[in-house]
Amino acid sequence: MGTEQEEALEGKGRGAAGGRYGRFVEDGRAFAITDPRTPRPWVNVISNPSFGLVVSQAGGGFTWVENSQLAVITRWEQDLIRDRSGKFLYLRDGDSGAEWSAAPAPVWAPWEEFECRHGLGYTTFTMHLHGIRSRWTLFVHPGEPVELWLVELANSGERERTLELMPYLEWNCGVAPSPRREFTKLFIENDFDTQRGIAVATSHMWEVPSERWGHWNTSFPFVAAFGGSLPVTQATGDKEVFLGRYGDLARPAALRRESWPARFGRHGDPVVALRSRVVVPARGAVTVGFALAVGRTREEAEARVAAWRSPEVMRPVLAEVGRGWLERLQPVQVATPEASLDTLVNLWLPYQTISARLWGRCGYYQQSGAFGFRDQLQDSQLWLGLDPPRCKAQILLHAAHQFADGSVYHWWHPLSEQGHVTRMSDDLLWLAYVTASYLRETRDFSILDEAVPFLDDPHPAPLAEHVRRAFARVRRRSSPRGLPFIGAGDWNDGLSAVGLEERGESVWLAQFLAGLLADWAEIARRTGDEATGRDYRAWREALVTAINAHAWDGEWFVRAWRDDGQPLGSRTCERGTIYLNAQSWAVLNDVTSPERAAACLAAVKKHLVTEVGALLLTPAYDRPVREIGYITRYAPGMRENGGVYTHAATWAIAAAAKLRDAELVGRLLAAINPVGKDPEQYWAEPYVLPGNVDGPESPHFGRGGWTWYTGSAAWLHRVVTQWVLGVRPEWEGLRIDPCLPPGWRRASLVRPWCGAVYRVDMESATGVGGGAVEALLLDGEPVGSPWLPVPDRPGATHRVQVRLG
Ligand code: GLC
Repeated sequence: MGTEQEEALEGKGRGAAGGRYGRFVEDGRAFAITDPRTPRPWVNVISNPSFGLVVSQAGGGFTWVENSQLAVITRWEQDLIRDRSGKFLYLRDGDSGAEWSAAPAPVWAPWEEFECRHGLGYTTFTMHLHGIRSRWTLFVHPGEPVELWLVELANSGERERTLELMPYLEWNCGVAPSPRREFTKLFIENDFDTQRGIAVATSHMWEVPSERWGHWNTSFPFVAAFGGSLPVTQATGDKEVFLGRYGDLARPAALRRESWPARFGRHGDPVVALRSRVVVPARGAVTVGFALAVGRTREEAEARVAAWRSPEVMRPVLAEVGRGWLERLQPVQVATPEASLDTLVNLWLPYQTISARLWGRCGYYQQSGAFGFRDQLQDSQLWLGLDPPRCKAQILLHAAHQFADGSVYHWWHPLSEQGHVTRMSDDLLWLAYVTASYLRETRDFSILDEAVPFLDDPHPAPLAEHVRRAFARVRRRSSPRGLPFIGAGDWNDGLSAVGLEERGESVWLAQFLAGLLADWAEIARRTGDEATGRDYRAWREALVTAINAHAWDGEWFVRAWRDDGQPLGSRTCERGTIYLNAQSWAVLNDVTSPERAAACLAAVKKHLVTEVGALLLTPAYDRPVREIGYITRYAPGMRENGGVYTHAATWAIAAAAKLRDAELVGRLLAAINPVGKDPEQYWAEPYVLPGNVDGPESPHFGRGGWTWYTGSAAWLHRVVTQWVLGVRPEWEGLRIDPCLPPGWRRASLVRPWCGAVYRVDMESATGVGGGAVEALLLDGEPVGSPWLPVPDRPGATHRVQVRLG
């Protein structure tokens, strides 16, 4: 990105008071927060595939291994207002007695300079006070379960300084949060290896079911270890020693105490605090390191700390982390007139998806740790452009969490394999959806033959059979008039009671299914299974007929019917009169006439589009309705209940692009873009997507929340590249079908497809927006259709020029 774009980005950051708290730096690769009193914690989720941490701009946060709910290493209390719970690094001047922390929390000592820089794979706190400039960088090793702290201390004065450095954390070593902490604490054992200066901890009880040995009768399968590169002069394993009785993290008693009782073992309140002395020469600097590692045994955990804790060893790892992220994200790059959108699509949306959704499964608002059957499958589509085998692996992982009758776990926990069985009706179909995406992207039909067992049947069956059983189950769960039951909810979890008796029907699910049947009829045809192809085509036709015969409400589609036959999303409903998804998917899956499709979009514009995005439904429910479900129990305007639910809001952008409503595409894109929003209205991080933005019925209209842990990041990435820029793998070929917003005269996209690389440049002479393709050149030759053919030479780079009206 050039400097001009950077200026535009920063300019946008400053607009609407955005610059008050921070701005993008390093060509958008990092976000620098300069005022830590952000309206809500602005965090980073830093992970490798099996280990990670969350850290806020104030310094709060925690660390997990493998599962951010079941295997949380350090204790954290979810309190987004105080944000004072976490792993901290205290400093004390041995001479003056001044005390502070290397992040604002927990001491909040008045600083002369502050910056929290959240980058791809690291966070750095810079603090300057009492003549010491500290830089504390937290990151994780790309392939090992180790969190690394690189701490640089620079003395800006003329005299030598003696400082005490005191890291502090509380051990959790198990499920978090624990509703019975005084109980679970009883099982933790910690210790200190004086020779190596490394503290360790584990728990002798883990709150997960043990099939063999019964209830709560298994040990936490990891040992955690923490140590630094400096000699340790004092160490304690007990919280009371450190804080003092009724003490406070902001002013722990131990900082002023000469000697610390060690109190490691099994009888205290388990923490680790280390004290080390460091002399920083006048105008000089010292760098130290700390490592927090996990192993299957104490030896393994300690060995990891010992191997990685020195700053000399860590520095190249930090460089490798930065390089690793850029390389990982490199294959798909866009350049549009909207610099902030480029920053999101090229860097932050894929980073959010990989680090928080696929690897960490964690944010500040939610610590899941589980794989959602539908959620991580959808997210994994992000890999299709970057590294398709990873999407394939996700598909096969989910297939292995299906029962022989076609049903699936709604979610399951890696590590314990606990899963949740529900009457949710759509989960299983996402297997078909993402497999079809994978096939359009890669043409690797061999995935259909991959043999995977069922949860209750160890005999492996091909993926194609898994998908077939999913379809068969949905077909069995259909109403007499041919619409699928909604059960305990379809995509919308909160519609949790609409169809518990298996009478209520889902229109959105019918539309979703109709799209899938078109895909799987084509897949059947391509794999020589004509009979299934015919069957699915006929089923799709019947569905389309039923949808149009029963679900048209006059100006839009009804969303569902309850078990008692009452509709949702109909003009006859006082609340929840119109729902977004039943309109956007009617358009996306071609299930209705062009007139009705246009009417759907018009209704969306008239009733749902607000200045902060498209609402999921309107008006919001204002009191709980037992027969609908927990969506009605949210406050009006919050989350799915009449808020902008960003996951669904991205689908509305795709539908607008499909109907070539460029003005709406531009409006919705601007609305969903968090960069440059007024933070006093928006509250949330400007560099990642939130799960929801409050709708007009909330007193905080426009407030973002539930950041990081949202499927909207992967979807916005997909919608921008495939619908706005319009470069979309279809069965016929790589479709070139942009719908550029008004004012965009140029845009480009680089992306791989079927083993070749495509550099697509598009230009619109008029810039009015939405102009159709007037000329399409592939390597300089005109192409006679909207589709580029499957490349015959893998590894080749193709130049694509697109002239738009
Ligand atoms: C949450 C769930 C997701 C669901 C969505 C809409 O994000 O994780 O599975 O589709 O809410 O209710």
